[in-house]
Amino acid sequence: MSPSPKEEAAALTEQLLRWSRAYFAKDEPLVPDEDYDAAMRRLQALETEHRDLRLSTSPTQRVGSAPLASFESVTHRRPMLSLDNAFSPDDLSDFHRRVSERLKANDIDYCCEPKLDGVAVSIVYEKGELALAATRGDGSTGENITANIRTVRNVPLILKGQGIPPYLEVRGEVVIPKDAFNKMNARASAMGERVFINPRNAAAGSLRQLDSRITARRPLSFTSYSVGVVEGDLPDCHDETLRRLSDWGLPVSDYMKTVNGLEACEAYYESIALRREALPFDIDGVVFKVNSFAQQERLGFVSRAPRWAIARKFPAQEVSTQLLGVDFQVGRTGAITPVARLDPVFVGGVTVSNATLHNADEIERLGVCIGDRVVVRRAGDVIPQIVSVVQHECVLEGSTRDAIVFPDACPECGSDVDRQDGGAVVRCVGGMSCNAQLKAVIRHFASRKAMDIEGLGDKLIDQLVDGELVANVADLFYLDAESLSELERMGGKSSENLIKAIEQSKATTLPRLIYALGIREVGEAMARALASHFLALEDVMAAPVEILEEVDDVGPIVAKHINAFFSERRNQEVIAALIAAEVNWPVASTNFGDGPLAGAIWVVTGKLESMGRDRAEQRLRALGAKTTGSVSAKTTTVLAGSGAGSKRKKAETLGIEIIDESEWLALMEELE
Ligand code: IVH
Repeated sequence: MSPSPKEEAAALTEQLLRWSRAYFAKDEPLVPDEDYDAAMRRLQALETEHRDLRLSTSPTQRVGSAPLASFESVTHRRPMLSLDNAFSPDDLSDFHRRVSERLKANDIDYCCEPKLDGVAVSIVYEKGELALAATRGDGSTGENITANIRTVRNVPLILKGQGIPPYLEVRGEVVIPKDAFNKMNARASAMGERVFINPRNAAAGSLRQLDSRITARRPLSFTSYSVGVVEGDLPDCHDETLRRLSDWGLPVSDYMKTVNGLEACEAYYESIALRREALPFDIDGVVFKVNSFAQQERLGFVSRAPRWAIARKFPAQEVSTQLLGVDFQVGRTGAITPVARLDPVFVGGVTVSNATLHNADEIERLGVCIGDRVVVRRAGDVIPQIVSVVQHECVLEGSTRDAIVFPDACPECGSDVDRQDGGAVVRCVGGMSCNAQLKAVIRHFASRKAMDIEGLGDKLIDQLVDGELVANVADLFYLDAESLSELERMGGKSSENLIKAIEQSKATTLPRLIYALGIREVGEAMARALASHFLALEDVMAAPVEILEEVDDVGPIVAKHINAFFSERRNQEVIAALIAAEVNWPVASTNFGDGPLAGAIWVVTGKLESMGRDRAEQRLRALGAKTTGSVSAKTTTVLAGSGAGSKRKKAETLGIEIIDESEWLALMEELE
C-alpha cells in the first residue's frame, strides 16, 4: 500500500533533515545534491497540494517568505553584552591576573575560540523548535529576523536528541565563508552588480533584508558561541555546553579548545594567528572565556562586558585613510602600475604609506579619486591594497577630489605607452632605453633566486644606470673596481667586494640564468622546466612556439613571450655578451635523470612547518625529481602543507598521490 501524503511528507522531512545535518553540521554529504534537490521538490509539491502539511519547521521553509514591511523589535530577556579587548600580551596577562585575584586561584581553565568577524544573533528554541531570532541591536533591544535566520542552512529548524531544554536561547555569529564570499562577488561583478566590501558587510546586509527570499540566496553560516536564557538543565561549564549544543545539531567552532593558564592562552593565540589566512572565514582575534560557570558567576560583569571573558584582538587588517596622490611605477616589462600614496596608517601590524591600485580597470571599479577616504587592506605578506572608497566621506575639508589620470607617456623615459588588455594594462614601449625598466631588469637579474649577486642593491643599481655605467645586464660583467670606486658611497673595499660577487655569480645554472633573463611570465619553476626539457640554452633560444608549448606548464601565451624574447636581436646580443664574459653553467645540473626520484614530477604546495617550500623543492631535486609549480596529469606526487588549496583539489580530482609533511619527511629520511 502506498503511504498517505502525510506519511510521505513526514518521511521526506526526516530524510532531508538527516541529509542536511550531515552536510551542514558535519560536512559529510550522505547523498548527491541531485537526490537532495529531488526530495526537496517532492516535499514542496506535497505541501502545495496539501496546505495543512506545511509546517513552519519544514525544510522547505528555507527558501524565504514574502517581504516584511519592517522588522519588529525584540527585547532581549538577558542583554547581549560585548567583550573587553586585549591588544597585547600584557593586556592579556592583566586580564588573567584580575581573574586569578578575584577567584583566589591560579589554576584557571579557559575555553579558547576564534573571534568570528560577522554579525551577532540570538536564536530561541522553544520545545526544540526555532521560535525567534534577533539581532544584537543595542544589546537590550534588537530586531526580529526570524524569517531570515530560517534560511540559514546550518541553523536547525528543529533540534534533535535528548535533554533539550524547553526554552533555549543560543547566541552566536552569522558569517559568510571567504570562499563563498569570493564566488558571490565574482558572480555579482560578472553580472554588473554591486560587489560587497568584505564578508562581514555582506553578512550584515544579507540579514538586514526585509525580503527573506534574498537572504536565502546568500551563503550565510552560523556558529554558536554561548547560551542566553535557558529554562532547563545544561552542563556546568562552557565547553561542555557547546558540545551539548553540537549534539543537538547546532553548529559550533571546530577550533574551540580548553586550556589551563595564561601561557597556554598565548600559545593558542599564536597558533590561530599563524593559521588566520588559511581559515575558511574572517576572524579578528580570539576569545578566552573562564570555562567554569560557577567561576563565571563569581566574577560577574562590569558595565557592558563580562569579567570572565576577553577578546585578544589581531592587528586590524583593514583601516581607512586618505589617498594623497598616485605615483606611476614602471616595472620590468614596462607595465605602468598606479601606486597610491597614503596618509600613513597602522594596518596588519605595520605602518603603510603606499598601496597598489593594480591598473586602470581597478581604479574605475573602485571609482576612486585623489582626496578620497579609502579602506586599505594588508593581510599576511600580501602587498597592501585599496579595497574600497568610504562613501560620503569623499571630500575632506580643504581637499579637492581629483580624478586619477593615467600618463600618456612613460613617466620615467617619456616614451610612448601602449594600452593592452582593453586598456587595462598600460605599458612603456621604451624597453631597455627606459631607465626604470632597465633598473627593474637588473634588480631581477641580480636577485637571490636569479644570478644572486650579493651586495648589488637598489641604490647601487640606480647609480650604475643613471651614471651610464650599465646599459644592459651583460655590462655588469665588464665593470671594473676603478670606475665603481668613483661612485658615491663606494670605497675601494666595497668596489672590490662587488666585483668579486659579480665574478662569483658567473658560475651559475641554466635554470637560474633563464629565470634571470626576466622573460615575461617565466618564473623559477618554468625556467627549470625549460632547462630540463631542452638541456641547452641554444635549443631554448631556437625553439619555435609549437615546440615550446610541449614543455610542462608552458601555454600558448608564455610560449609566445619566450619566442619573442629570444627572437629579439638586442637580447641575443646580451646573451652572447654574457657568454663572452664567461657566465657558465654545468650541463649536468640540467640533467634530472639521476637519483632515487628520477622521472618523478613533484609539486610542493601549502605551508610547511619544518622548512620553506624552496628548501623542500631543492631536496626533491637533489634526489632527481623534477619540481613544477602547477599540478597536471603528469604530476606524480603532491606534497601538501597546511592551507593547501586549489592545487591539492586538482590533485584529488586527477587522482594524484598527495602526501603530508610528516610522510614526506619520513620519505626524505629514507632516500637521502
Ligand atoms: S562571546 C558576553 N565568543 O564579539 C560574551 N563573542 O565584542 C559574549 N564574537 O558581539 C560574546 N566570536 O558577536 C563571543 N567566539 C565568540 C565570538 C564572539 C565573535 C563577537 C560577538 C560579540 C562581539 C563582542
